[in-house]
Amino acid sequence: MTEFKRIGVLTSGGDAPGMNAAVRAVTRSALLCGVEVMGIYGGYQGLMDDDMKLFRSKDVAGIISHGGTILYSARAAEFKTEEGMQKAIAVCKKNRIDGIIAIGGDGTFRGATDLSVRGIPTVGIPGTIDNDISSTDYTIGFDTAANTIIELIDKIRDTCESHARCDVVEVMGRNEGDLAIQSGLATGAIAVAVGEIPFDEEAAINRIRVAREHGKRNFIVVVAEGKKGYAEGFTKRIEEQTGVESRFTRLGHVQRGGSPTLRDRVTASLMGQYAVDKLFEGKSDIVICERKREIVAMNIGFALSVDKLFKGKLTDEEKAKISKADFEKMEAICAERRAKKMQLYNTARITCV
Ligand code: F6P
Repeated sequence: MTEFKRIGVLTSGGDAPGMNAAVRAVTRSALLCGVEVMGIYGGYQGLMDDDMKLFRSKDVAGIISHGGTILYSARAAEFKTEEGMQKAIAVCKKNRIDGIIAIGGDGTFRGATDLSVRGIPTVGIPGTIDNDISSTDYTIGFDTAANTIIELIDKIRDTCESHARCDVVEVMGRNEGDLAIQSGLATGAIAVAVGEIPFDEEAAINRIRVAREHGKRNFIVVVAEGKKGYAEGFTKRIEEQTGVESRFTRLGHVQRGGSPTLRDRVTASLMGQYAVDKLFEGKSDIVICERKREIVAMNIGFALSVDKLFKGKLTDEEKAKISKADFEKMEAICAERRAKKMQLYNTARITCV
């Protein structure tokens, strides 16, 4: 078993509030065990470029309340190539890094597994506002982003009420509409449209028309970014078919910033410390997940297959390589996730008028 002397920590992919809390927890947990920590800047790109600094406890002081990531982030295409991977491994050897904790989304985990199989034990921590990693019930950053969205939508609603308007608000969420569903539910949106659930546009327009007839003045419609190119056209159709003056708002990157909420600070701290514990126990090629409110570890290959299965991207060839028992476990995780999403979606729909 590797005796760890120095590990690296990095953040990769889209930044998410709470990533700093995870970096802090990783750093301090490792230092407490007498293991040095190298803060790697700019994700896997920074690893390949040898852009890093030895962290002391004070380097992570005061960051738990800060949004973004003090380690910066990037999406590194070169890291997906064997050449890029070999560069990264050479940098690890040169800097005597014998393990890595990588915080990010599914792309980050693919990088983590590639490093693990090449002899650099790596552990992933899920950090993305989208909550779109199917192996875990929760990803760091989601709660902060969802709270930012509801604060902004509440403000938009004030002006809709004054002017008797409808506002179609597009929120982030490339692959999954969790941000749209939960913020739509929490703001009483008259309709929520996401890429992964069929949307009944006619019924939504009818709800707006009937509610207007009954004297309702403000209408919020939440559309996930994953329902590509839909929101603006839908805004026009609402106005044409109901006579309600309608506006379109894309919230954009404001959703990714800001001081993390309690949920994100606590979850990130628990996951960070757990990741270090598991790495030092000799576990590698794992991702830290939250399942039924418990922090657990899952093999990255298994987690990535769950994700593909959930998103309908698992090929027959990949499926054939999975044991029957594992496949049944994966199906159970996907079924639970689908049921939870549908419950939230249906409650949003049922309670909106
Ligand atoms: O993955 C997080 C996310 O914010 C998505 O919701 C969004 O589609 C994407 O990142 C935006 O990426 P970028 O910041 O590179 O434009």
